[in-house]
Amino acid sequence: MDKERVIKAALLGFGTVGGGVYRLSERLGEELENKTGARLEITKILVRSLGKQRQGADPALFTDNWKEILEDEEISIIIELIGGIEPARTYVTEALKAGKNVVTANKDLLAEYGGELLNLAQEHHCDLMFEASVAGAIPIIRSLKQSLAGSMITEVAGIVNGTTNYILTKMSEVGMDYEEALALAMEKGYAEADPTADVEGHDAGRKIAIMASIAFNSRVTFSQVYTEGITKITAKDISYAKEFGYVVKLLGIAKKDEDGVEVKVHPMLVPEDHPLAAVRNSFNAVFVHGEACDDGMFMGRGAGEMPTASAVMGDVIDVMGNLVHDCCGRMGCTCYKSLPVKKAEDSCSRYFLRVQVADRPGALANIAGVLGNNQVSIAQVYQKKSRNGVAELVVITDPVREKNFNDSLAVIRGMDVLREVSSVIRVY
Ligand code: NAP
Ligand code: HSE
Repeated sequence: MDKERVIKAALLGFGTVGGGVYRLSERLGEELENKTGARLEITKILVRSLGKQRQGADPALFTDNWKEILEDEEISIIIELIGGIEPARTYVTEALKAGKNVVTANKDLLAEYGGELLNLAQEHHCDLMFEASVAGAIPIIRSLKQSLAGSMITEVAGIVNGTTNYILTKMSEVGMDYEEALALAMEKGYAEADPTADVEGHDAGRKIAIMASIAFNSRVTFSQVYTEGITKITAKDISYAKEFGYVVKLLGIAKKDEDGVEVKVHPMLVPEDHPLAAVRNSFNAVFVHGEACDDGMFMGRGAGEMPTASAVMGDVIDVMGNLVHDCCGRMGCTCYKSLPVKKAEDSCSRYFLRVQVADRPGALANIAGVLGNNQVSIAQVYQKKSRNGVAELVVITDPVREKNFNDSLAVIRGMDVLREVSSVIRVY
């Protein structure tokens, strides 16, 4: 092996993750050479604002000119850490067309254009690796693509957003309400200045689209994912969940059966004895079920400078090894099937329903009757003593087609005994 070999790379972005990757590559130093048989040199760093004060890297490395990197034939790895769709999509496309390998942490890009970019990588015999795009340091992409490739996976369920897991943990364990827990998540730096993508489930939606595509070998894009966030979860729901033996979590769920795949993000009541229920604060976890591997769970840090840099560097090391052994582009797009993505209303769930009804004879029977008429079977029911003529009724159903449940809810909403539908949460 040529011990003197130098592999040149460029970083696109020097923010939280880009800066972390640079620092980690420096810390790894000789380790990289021992692991891959080559030395890594980051020779250029693309940023948006060249005038910004930066620490930790030679100012001469920075540029705001993408062409300077694209046209540098010595650079064989592009590490894309800008984020978002454009200009990242253009840069990754142009890099692959120029025969450069790409490592990225960009879930937005992969969840919508993963198929197109992976095909392009294959066409040009390049690597396109994206371990850091889902659940930070947790090695879930490589595990689904390689280690579990023979496992016939039927379900992936993940807590893949640290911000919402932190908020729900604080609501559950300290009794905070949603607004208070969100404010704390922002103060701690978990939530972004605009937390919409986290709390509305869009961030988790992108991650579950990427995992479903790999797990089921069939492309699912973010636009096909049903998403519902945590903004309507109340302290009361969490306290009822506890009474019934559940913990509320925001889950990305992907399941496969003979009718196709369902891919959704929504809050769920998770049984206290399920491993996902024990995943607290900003930790992430992905639970996998396969016909051969049975149940398994991966847990770890889903975000942050060094955990994300760790996943990026793992990919960079893999690409370096492939360059040394001249086998880049081995692992292209693995979506060789074209399974239908089911509408949410055709999937099955158990439900937790909390309603306020007039405390008069027959109210409970009326609600139960509407559910029964729509083939919704009740598993548990609970009624608190009424106050001011209004009774709170909590029902947990057996598994039901979501359309049937929604149809019964539409009828319940129109009943004159009904005062309010307070919450509707699926049960895992
Ligand atoms: P960030 O801190 O906002 O950094 C973004 C970097 O990209 C900045 O250096 C910025 O340049 C540069 N940039 C932005 N637009 C650009 C443009 N048009 N041209 C050139 N450079 C541009 O973002 P981040 O948190 O590091 O996230 C990077 C990626 O990692 C995203 O895809 C994100 O989803 C993913 N990710 C992040 C985390 C995390 O914990 N942060 C975890 C997992 C995955 P300036 O410095 O000049 O502004
Ligand atoms: N905002 C994400 C989270 C981290 O809270 O988990 C980046 O994917």
